[in-house]
Amino acid sequence: MASWADGSGAMFDRIAAHYDQLNRVISLGLDRRWRRALCRAVLEVSARPVQRVLDLATGTGDVALALREEGVGQVVGVDPSVKMLRVAAGKHALPLVCGVGEQLPLASDSVDASVIAFGIRNVRDRARTLSELRRVTRPGGAVAVLELSQPAGGGLVARAARLHMTRVVPLLGRAISRGAAYAYLPQSIARFPAPEEFAAAMGEAGLQAVQVRPLTFGAASLFVARSP
Ligand SMILES: C[S@@+](CC[C@H](N)C(=O)[O-])C[C@H]1O[C@@H](n2cnc3c(N)ncnc32)[C@H](O)[C@@H]1O
Repeated sequence: MASWADGSGAMFDRIAAHYDQLNRVISLGLDRRWRRALCRAVLEVSARPVQRVLDLATGTGDVALALREEGVGQVVGVDPSVKMLRVAAGKHALPLVCGVGEQLPLASDSVDASVIAFGIRNVRDRARTLSELRRVTRPGGAVAVLELSQPAGGGLVARAARLHMTRVVPLLGRAISRGAAYAYLPQSIARFPAPEEFAAAMGEAGLQAVQVRPLTFGAASLFVARSP
């Protein structure tokens, strides 16, 4: 069985048909709101006009669509999973390229901003992917990462969120996708670095003015920076 982080998109090929439905149910509908926050942050943080944006790990294309809704003229989606890309192609006519974040199939300084939503956890080499995002993003352009995270602390919301992720999500995943694919999610989130640590990794990749914005009590985190 392909590992979740094998970088080939094989795991996502298997769940592509159920991915959108799973996302809605698992995030209790919050995924859309989080993607919108990502797109607005890109427009707000970019120190240059945002005309062409890379949506890395575009999957079924929801971020690309959200960017268009926010008025971005051109969006290019990149993802290694052909089946996820096929679902995206059924939703929009934007350019889609099969590729991985570690070796982006784009020229240096070719986009005004780059985003990756719920994808940085899945790449094999995070540092290299962040450097690639910096390489393709023109100076002053925003590089933004949206990722699921673990709400910290012992409060009621944090405990409920942890219970949802460790107990409810794997059950929902099995019920909807009829496979064990979503059993990986709690461990994968737990293994992801703490927000401050990931922000430091963005700085080490040469990105500037890194900010961390917790969303919905820290159930997701938005990281925004600028390409130098
Ligand atoms: C959880 S989905 C996120 C999809 C989409 N961005 C969204 O907001 O729903 C993760 C995506 O990462 C892609 N992926 C896996 N390995 C990758 C890599 N090395 N480089 C880029 N994308 C990768 C998968 O194929 C999958 O479509």
